[in-house]
Amino acid sequence: MTPTDAPVPEIGNPLRRLTLAELRRRTSEKWRAHPPDVLPLFVAEMDVPLPETVRDAVGEALALGDTGYTRGPAYAEAFAGFARRRWGWETVATARTTVVPDVMTGVLEVLAAISTPRDTVVVNSPVYPPFHDYVRHTGRMVAEAPLGADLRLDLAGLEDAYRHAASRGGNPVHLLCNPHNPTGTVHTAAELAAVAQLAESWGVRVVADEIHAPVVDPGTRYTPYLSVPGAERGWAVLSASKAWNLAGLRAGLAVAGPGAAADVARIPEWVAAATSHVGVIAHTAAFTRGEPWLDALLAGLAENRLLLAELLAEHLPEVRYRSAPGTYLAWLDCRDAGFGDDPAAVFLERGRVALTSGIPFGAGGAGWARLNLATSPEVLVEAVRRMARARR
Ligand SMILES: Cc1ncc(COP(=O)(O)O)c(C=O)c1O
Repeated sequence: MTPTDAPVPEIGNPLRRLTLAELRRRTSEKWRAHPPDVLPLFVAEMDVPLPETVRDAVGEALALGDTGYTRGPAYAEAFAGFARRRWGWETVATARTTVVPDVMTGVLEVLAAISTPRDTVVVNSPVYPPFHDYVRHTGRMVAEAPLGADLRLDLAGLEDAYRHAASRGGNPVHLLCNPHNPTGTVHTAAELAAVAQLAESWGVRVVADEIHAPVVDPGTRYTPYLSVPGAERGWAVLSASKAWNLAGLRAGLAVAGPGAAADVARIPEWVAAATSHVGVIAHTAAFTRGEPWLDALLAGLAENRLLLAELLAEHLPEVRYRSAPGTYLAWLDCRDAGFGDDPAAVFLERGRVALTSGIPFGAGGAGWARLNLATSPEVLVEAVRRMARARR
């Protein structure tokens, strides 16, 4: 029986399964970074139980003591099947795919394989803060090519950044977030093809972080970067961790385009060997048998986006929210709400609700805050109530 022939169990909305009291027993960052009177909606962990298919796979591995070092193509094959079924992406070659301990470690290893510490890395601010911090930590220079006011890629600004990066010489890289965290923007096939064309003409290598890809709302077409014409020399780095909430079971994949095949050998073997084998088993199960659960999750997230928009319109209309299909993170424009440059700090202090500050996301982040809506409708209602309490 192939994964897609398997009987589909009845799955309710995973976001409605756990009570706040149960969630508060968790010991992960979301539930331990703040005191218990704070309602946490910051880090990208979801308030869902572990999908049964993943729990069974991990349970079997533990029962068998299958807890040694990881090896083999199972995870890459599972992702290739998922990419084919979900997006019609037919060309994920397992021979050009390597297991990495997690997505950011994968990004840094790919950067090490294709550039040197003196090189420039272009990022589209506002963007996931480790794109700035982790990359700078390697010695590379981060150059910002901010998104436009519509929160989409600004291709003219991107070309300026490429031109400037190319003028410094070396091996410029564009670290692309596809889809984009924090805005939830899903880049179109035409935008990505334009990126590929510009990157080729300026000698820039593209590394696409596609960790949020499985979370894209089914009403929006998602395009993997490596599937567009001209992207052959690019890389994609991804994992099942955002969509199935597996961050504690770390395991990612780095996928080279056909024109980047020679880079693969420059990623040392110990990078794959440092990956948790139980993590690989969990992520493989998610990509192989986790689609019914994912579909139930996506339906719940769509409801939550609508609910959040309604709640904000009613209780905090000066905070602007444009629902976006690309992640379960909501990027809230608080610039006219009178909360200053760091509204998340005000929400925390006065409302006892934790959002993520927009400032570390780089240019365009001041005055904004990021809210994680992968929670129950009850928690969302309470979160907006607390945010509204932060008003003077
Ligand atoms: C765009 C993006 N990349 C990477 C990560 C982190 O992934 P990992 O824990 O696998 O490094 C996140 C986490 O939220 C993310 O949003």
